[in-house]
Amino acid sequence: MNKIKQIVAVIRDRQDITKEELQLVLQTKDTDGIQYLYDMAKETAQTVYGNQVFIRGLIEFTNYCRNDCYYCGIRKSNTQAQRYRLTGEQILSCCKTGYELGFRTFVLQGGEDGFFTDEKLCSLISEIKKNYPDCAVTLSIGEREKESYQRFFDVGADRYLLRHETAQECHYKSLHPSAMSFEHRRQCLYNLKEIGYQVGCGFMVGSPGQTVETLYEDLRFIKELAPHMVGIGPFIPQKDTPFAGKAAGTMEQTLKLLSIIRLIHPHVLLPATTALGTIHPKGREKGILAGANVVMPNLSPVNVREKYKLYDNKICTGDEAAECRFCMQRRMESIGYQVVTDRGDYRP
Ligand code: 5AD
Ligand code: FES
Repeated sequence: MNKIKQIVAVIRDRQDITKEELQLVLQTKDTDGIQYLYDMAKETAQTVYGNQVFIRGLIEFTNYCRNDCYYCGIRKSNTQAQRYRLTGEQILSCCKTGYELGFRTFVLQGGEDGFFTDEKLCSLISEIKKNYPDCAVTLSIGEREKESYQRFFDVGADRYLLRHETAQECHYKSLHPSAMSFEHRRQCLYNLKEIGYQVGCGFMVGSPGQTVETLYEDLRFIKELAPHMVGIGPFIPQKDTPFAGKAAGTMEQTLKLLSIIRLIHPHVLLPATTALGTIHPKGREKGILAGANVVMPNLSPVNVREKYKLYDNKICTGDEAAECRFCMQRRMESIGYQVVTDRGDYRP
């Protein structure tokens, strides 16, 4: 057996990776070895989740953000961004459409927008849970105090996505202005877990200044936190941000990292992200074939999609919810997978 295949088998059996192994796997151009990595990760995902892919309906309900991350298209200093907020009624209408299309998880994602107070969000979450008691509600609204997270949980929120972005403090500082705290973000993740959420962390692949060392720290952090979900996708520059001229992350590095995460966390919920679908027309399919098991088609109203541009060339901005839903189904069936009408909870 060739060297990379041997390393992959060791990573799988040990469910852990050393820095040297990570370096070798990320740097190799051995196509047989790389394919073996993808295949092992795919088989691992199948032993836990079969050939089912979970779908989540993503509702991008506000692009106002008080933060100013250097990479992000909805950062507050981006005066080119056309800001919008959905009303409670519009959000509930997205859920209704989504429910009819078979979605049983709604992901409410937005910038850190003070307009949405705890009270407003609690009433929204309660309303969704009252109308759709068989659905999971996932929040992805950034950093808040533990008390707020507790209130959302108490009215029925089930899951929370908060990418840690990078587990290396100096790298974190190079991606964010000094007003943002590396420690606070990590603390938020621990708080969410303690409260009882299914928690997701994650990072961008190929963000400016990222090294093998950084990625190794990311994998260590994931081991330590033991999240239920991990969201990773390539960094893609956005033209009106300080990182406009930086190189994008690549599909191959993203696929390798998806596979590695699957091998060291066999049960984790792992999305093939929109960013991966943006850098390659078959990116999401390839992600599933490299060990991912979740896709998150967009349920936002078409008239706001263009405006939720974290990065350039984002796909699906002109498609209705139903089009995305069935497009995704066809895409998954084309590679032998089924999208299921199911909450798609973590399977311990
Ligand atoms: N390219 C890729 N992903 C991005 N995100 C923000 N900006 C970009 C970009 N330019 C990711 C961040 C954030 C998530 C919602 O989107 O990781 O946590
Ligand atoms: Fe809000 Fe980046 S500026 S998440």
